[in-house]
Amino acid sequence: MTTATMYETILTEVKNEIFYITINRESKLNALNIQTLTDIKNAVLSIYPSTDIKGVILTGAGEKAFAAGADIAEFANFNVEEGTRMSAEGHAVLNAIENCPKPVIAAVNGFALGGGNELAMACHIRIAGEKAKFGQPEVNLGITPGYAGTQRLAQLIGKGRALELLMTADLIPAQRAYEMGLVNHVVPVDQVITKSEEILSKIKTKSPLAIASVIRCVNAHYEKKLDGNNVEINEFGNFFGSEDFKEGTVAFMEKRKADFKGK
Ligand code: COA
Repeated sequence: MTTATMYETILTEVKNEIFYITINRESKLNALNIQTLTDIKNAVLSIYPSTDIKGVILTGAGEKAFAAGADIAEFANFNVEEGTRMSAEGHAVLNAIENCPKPVIAAVNGFALGGGNELAMACHIRIAGEKAKFGQPEVNLGITPGYAGTQRLAQLIGKGRALELLMTADLIPAQRAYEMGLVNHVVPVDQVITKSEEILSKIKTKSPLAIASVIRCVNAHYEKKLDGNNVEINEFGNFFGSEDFKEGTVAFMEKRKADFKGK
């Protein structure tokens, strides 16, 4: 059961159909060591099949950091093989978030740097506290981003802006991240969770089948092997065999709120 699982580096909780994941390494600015990434992946995968959970909020403990990057102390002495494995595993964790059939919102206070920004970018929606700071400072360490930062940053803010941030290692404030399209909303520091909950409360009323399908279709655009338009055509057609689609259209015509069962 999701609620009962204990993890080493994260806290989890289920409340009002929302699964909360809090990275719990505050003294290290929630730096992402391998164990943290493993814990996040296992927690996210655990709710894939759930019909009770309608969304996920991922945040960092404290107000100073969402996550200040991959754990530099851990990887500083890695060799080529270990570095390659670290990156491949990081990609797999972030893909598990991006492909989660329920909406995942990153509630970001403080620093979202390097792997922290990459983690936030793997989520479907990002809410930033007004003191949050974003950036990919890896080149300061003489390395490139390893958790798909070069890919997702360009997808979210465009190639030119992404290249500038990646090459200068500049940290940008929340408002600038909003203007660039890196975050969806900027809110006062104490409202990142409530804003995330407000968005999920809207999504929760929709058909879970339709929400999962939207996620698949949008993600398909970025999958090299897939044609996003074809994925959408197939997904759309399949809804004509679902109960939720019948309920949605009948409820509209009967001028009432739809009661979706996820079937
Ligand atoms: N990996 C490992 N430990 C980290 C870390 C990271 N990415 N980011 C912060 N920490 C640790 C610090 O080592 C320190 O630990 P200590 O108290 O045991 O010495 C603790 O978190 C607090 O960080 P500190 O640097 O003292 O805080 P600060 O307010 O002076 O600076 C930052 C904050 C974010 C500017 C600074 O911590 C930083 O530059 N971090 C690295 C960011 C980065 O390069 N990320 C990309 C990694 S690929």
